[in-house]
Amino acid sequence: MRRFFSIALLTLGLALSCACGGGRTPPGEPSNEDLIVVGMCQVGAESDWRVANSESMKAVFTEENGYRLLFDVARQKQENQISAVRKFIQQQVDYIVLMPISESGWDSVLQEAKEAGIPVILVDRMVNVEDESLYAAHVGSDFRAEGGLAVAWMEETFQGAEDPVRVIHVQGTPGSTAQLGRTAALEEAVEAHGNWELLAQLDGDFTQAKTYEVMTEYLSSLPGKGDVDVVYCENDNIAFGALQALEEQGCVCGEQGVRIITFDATRGALTECLRGKIALAVECNPLLGPLVEEAIQTMEAGGTPEKHRYVEEQIFTSESLTEALIESREY
Ligand code: AHR
Repeated sequence: MRRFFSIALLTLGLALSCACGGGRTPPGEPSNEDLIVVGMCQVGAESDWRVANSESMKAVFTEENGYRLLFDVARQKQENQISAVRKFIQQQVDYIVLMPISESGWDSVLQEAKEAGIPVILVDRMVNVEDESLYAAHVGSDFRAEGGLAVAWMEETFQGAEDPVRVIHVQGTPGSTAQLGRTAALEEAVEAHGNWELLAQLDGDFTQAKTYEVMTEYLSSLPGKGDVDVVYCENDNIAFGALQALEEQGCVCGEQGVRIITFDATRGALTECLRGKIALAVECNPLLGPLVEEAIQTMEAGGTPEKHRYVEEQIFTSESLTEALIESREY
């Protein structure tokens, strides 16, 4: 590890642990000098997906694997993320791994990282910057393609329907790549289908609590609740909040009622899908730790990682699911 001993706090911690443990690195294990320091800036813990994503990172970036991980959780605030990146720059970490909450507002701080010679790897969502050299690589999902999978399923399900297809759309954090991509797919499809009607677009901020609140408020004053055909939920936690609100308001969810579409396909959502309460779960794979490590190892070896690496994803319906399959999934 090149810059490790210039990190004042870590050095102090190290000195203390040496003093207490009399510690020398056991033979065969990497010494602290060899560790690659990764400053990681996570969005928060707003969803089950996010928790699985953090676990995937922590499982890979361990001391046994040769890393010192500095893990920051921004509590869903971009200003906290920007402060964390600045702190990592001051600490002269080897790499910055950033899961950006939203796409805009990153030019200055990423320029600072570039000037400090610290490669930035974007994970999950993207940033909207003029200069692509401000980040070394991006690893994540193609959110527009995920939306396309959901829309294709809707087209097949409502094929030939002459009656209006009424859709409530509950969105994720405004301005995040996941929200922008999934929203774009639905909005384009609504434009293209004369009988698809967008009843409302609500902000669920990717959380169950906020969605429950906004859906309850909306449904309470909606005449003809029984006529809702689809609730397009931009993640699983939104789907959980929507399901709870719909059922409390007397709506039936499932093939004979409201079709809930969700993104992520975590175990909880797949279980609801198998029970028939959620009609479609589009996978969004949070297990990105190994791919981030590959990018870092490529750079360690003097190479250039792929600029954008997208993970493959699939869809699930009750017909394609079994309990054993849900059990076998890692998140
Ligand atoms: O950016 C990925 C999205 O963010 C996931 O769909 C969601 O669950 C998370 O909070």
